[in-house]
Amino acid sequence: METKTFGVVGAGQMGNGIAQVAATSGLQVIMSDIKEEFVQRGLANITNILTKNVEKGKISLEEKDAVLGRIKTSIDLKDMADADYVVEAATENEPVKFQIFRDLDAICPPHVVLASNTSSIPIVRIAAQTKRPNQVIGMHFMNPVPVMKLVEVIRGLATSDETFQITWDLAIKFGKTPALSNDYPGFIANRILMPMINEAVYCLYHGVGTREDIDTVMKLGMNHPMGPLTLADFIGLDTCLAIMEVLYEGFCDSKYRPCPLLRKYVEAGWLGKKSGRGFYSYQ
Ligand code: CAA
Repeated sequence: METKTFGVVGAGQMGNGIAQVAATSGLQVIMSDIKEEFVQRGLANITNILTKNVEKGKISLEEKDAVLGRIKTSIDLKDMADADYVVEAATENEPVKFQIFRDLDAICPPHVVLASNTSSIPIVRIAAQTKRPNQVIGMHFMNPVPVMKLVEVIRGLATSDETFQITWDLAIKFGKTPALSNDYPGFIANRILMPMINEAVYCLYHGVGTREDIDTVMKLGMNHPMGPLTLADFIGLDTCLAIMEVLYEGFCDSKYRPCPLLRKYVEAGWLGKKSGRGFYSYQ
């Protein structure tokens, strides 16, 4: 069945980016969150980016209005009953995601695919919360969603070929390049990215280099757009730690142990850009 209305659960950094690319591709979008202020903040962010794109001459004012006109916001998950495909982009927390999938399974018509933007929680565990595990899949966007070209598509044990194909085709419709990953801790993206970031934190912890030198080496030496410590601040140190824990527990392998300094920063509430302080200060 053709996807006409695309549901996004969560209006935060990832959710509003996903809503923007879906609406830009011509789909009707329902973006939900638990509080009106969260959906309004998400919508304001989308409006802001589209306004900048108009100023840069990338899109016309009419196109901006048309994209915004396709986005409906909601603070009632039951509104997802009108969507043909739903992607969950709530906080990276198992009990929260599990409850959303149980609720969506009860709310959404039987043909609807339920995808998760999880960066590391096994799809098989999320799928097991529903009575439609064959229609559950990982659709992992990268931050900032409107800019990054990749969508990592994660097939769970029970994901059907049809669910996979619908998801793959949607990623292409959104102007992204999909890549397929099987369902192992961290998938492909974070299996490789997070140990690199964690190692950068170890370099700081062991005094191998200052934060600036560590970032400069990776930026200028490896041509990364951001140094690993800046990137960790951008992603959120709590998210980085949570993903390292998933790798560590999932593989029972000490090579994935989170750096004690990363844990200390998170315990101090130094979560990166969003809290005003991480490896760098953002006051
Ligand atoms: N939303 C929308 N657009 C944005 C944006 C945002 N948050 N941030 C930047 N942009 C746009 C800018 O408007 C600009 O657009 P134009 O080319 O049209 O002018 C373009 O991106 C480049 O931005 P800047 O010139 O301001 O800065 P930059 O060249 O340093 O690029 C960046 C910024 C794209 C974020 C770049 O630094 C980058 O690619 N960083 C690495 C990002 C990355 O690795 N993301 C993956 C994180 S991991 C993840 O998401 C998954 C996970 O599970 C943890």
